[in-house]
Amino acid sequence: LFFMPFHLFITVFSFLFLLSFSPWSRCQAVQAENVTVLEGGTAQISCRLQNYDGSIVVIQNPRRQTLFFNGTRALKDDRFQMVLFTPRLVRITLTNVSVSDEGGYFCQLYTDATHHQVATLSVLVPPETPTVEVKQEAVEGGEVELTCVSPRSKPAATLRWIRNGREIPGVVSQQDNAKTFSVSSTIRIPVERKDNGAALSCEASHPALNGQKKIRHYRLDVYFAPTGDSLSLTCSVTGNPLPRNIQWSKINDTLPERAEISGPTFQISRLSQSHNGTYLCQAQNNFGRAADHYTLLFSLHFPQVVLNPGAVVETHSAVPYAVIGGVLALLVFTVICVLIVTIWCSVRQKGSYLTHEASGLDEHGEVQEAFLNGNDASQGKKEYLL
Ligand SMILES: *[C@@H]1O[C@H](CO)[C@@H](O)[C@H](O)[C@H]1NC(C)=O
Ligand SMILES: *[C@@H]1O[C@H](CO)[C@@H](O)[C@H](O)[C@H]1NC(C)=O
Ligand SMILES: *[C@@H]1O[C@H](CO)[C@@H](O)[C@H](O)[C@H]1NC(C)=O
Ligand SMILES: *[C@@H]1O[C@H](CO)[C@@H](O)[C@H](O)[C@H]1NC(C)=O
Ligand SMILES: *[C@@H]1O[C@H](CO)[C@@H](O)[C@H](O)[C@H]1NC(C)=O
Repeated sequence: LFFMPFHLFITVFSFLFLLSFSPWSRCQAVQAENVTVLEGGTAQISCRLQNYDGSIVVIQNPRRQTLFFNGTRALKDDRFQMVLFTPRLVRITLTNVSVSDEGGYFCQLYTDATHHQVATLSVLVPPETPTVEVKQEAVEGGEVELTCVSPRSKPAATLRWIRNGREIPGVVSQQDNAKTFSVSSTIRIPVERKDNGAALSCEASHPALNGQKKIRHYRLDVYFAPTGDSLSLTCSVTGNPLPRNIQWSKINDTLPERAEISGPTFQISRLSQSHNGTYLCQAQNNFGRAADHYTLLFSLHFPQVVLNPGAVVETHSAVPYAVIGGVLALLVFTVICVLIVTIWCSVRQKGSYLTHEASGLDEHGEVQEAFLNGNDASQGKKEYLL
């Protein structure tokens, strides 16, 4: 200042002097602070006052509903409490914060000119430990598809798949539902038998977790076909004479090439998935036929043999022909008798029906009666037949 030209010094001095008496510097003012809180937590919304002269202070929620009118509760929501009202600071708290409480809270001062400031409330929703969904099971020589899911967080959680300390890049998808995010990360990795039991993990990181991670561990369960196993099915047959010829077949398919058949025994060495199916054994002698089937279910976990409960057994009838003849003759006789009686009755009823029809053609009532009679006749027939 000492080296400043005098007129400049005067200008600066007078400017500062005027400013100190200006209406702006003496005017009351309000300042609001932004708040970030975890869902379910408690938010403190503070309005700092300057040069407070007893004017009315109004606090409004993001929908511009008045929460407090100069210290008096206006909106009936017990989660809001006024905890402080001094000439320097007005503070309210909001408990059990939810994402729908987010937004700008207005601190307003009613003076000649209305001052207001907005405190922005942000709500964080930390993710739960993610879950792992198996989209495609791990079969030796194939690929496994795993999806790590974090159903709800705000902002969206970051998911990372880790195996042996290294990240496996996944395909990330994100869905926005009502202010929170559902995130998933899908990986596809080729698997061999040696990968069975391998440890993977999916880590969720999030700003609300303070650098910590929510980790889901997952162990690969790789299915592989048993090799070298053999399957032996036996068709146990009895009969006199003992059926000499036992036939093995596979339903809707040809028997596998490596099948060995010796009498009632059917054997497949080195089972594989192609042996999945239903196997039928049939035995026959002059007096009958018996069949049974086994279903070999080659599931991913292990081959299972299911013996179907209903074995089919057919025996040839040994009822003497004379008896059959007698029964047949009796049956034919009964049918003929019933037919004769039926025809006789129906002719008699039809006769009376025709008479009615002929006499009362012109009159409705008569015709109806005639039809009723006809109906009665048919009912009579039924009864007679019964
Ligand atoms: C408060 O948050 C709002 C909206 O996010 C932003 O525009 C404003 O700059 C923030 N104010 C302060 C003081 O950080
Ligand atoms: C508003 O409340 C404050 C603090 O209780 C009080 O000092 C002030 O007089 C009130 N203003 C009016 C206009 O009622
Ligand atoms: C907190 O709010 C949620 C809904 O937003 C409600 O289900 C829950 O019961 C509340 N908890 C308490 C302690 O009031
Ligand atoms: C065999 O094939 C037929 C027709 O394709 C099908 O209806 C039947 O269920 C099959 N049987 C078995 C045991 O697979
Ligand atoms: C074996 O057959 C069953 C039913 O016949 C089927 O559900 C299953 O997927 C088959 N398994 C393989 C490995 O083909």
